[in-house]
Amino acid sequence: MVICLCNAMTDGDVRSAIAQGASRPSEVYACCGGRAQCGCCAPSVVQILKEGSTRG
Ligand code: FES
Repeated sequence: MVICLCNAMTDGDVRSAIAQGASRPSEVYACCGGRAQCGCCAPSVVQILKEGSTRG
């Protein structure tokens, strides 16, 4: 599922960024080659950070 339209980032991308060591939203964006833009996806990114990289 795409959660960040600005960076075309999926929940899977976020989880793999977390698996690679990202622990903050800014690190998740950087790891996916993007950066926070509109911020619409921030709650989703934070939610996935809370869940960790084990699901999905
Ligand atoms: S949807 Fe992610 S920064 Fe805009």
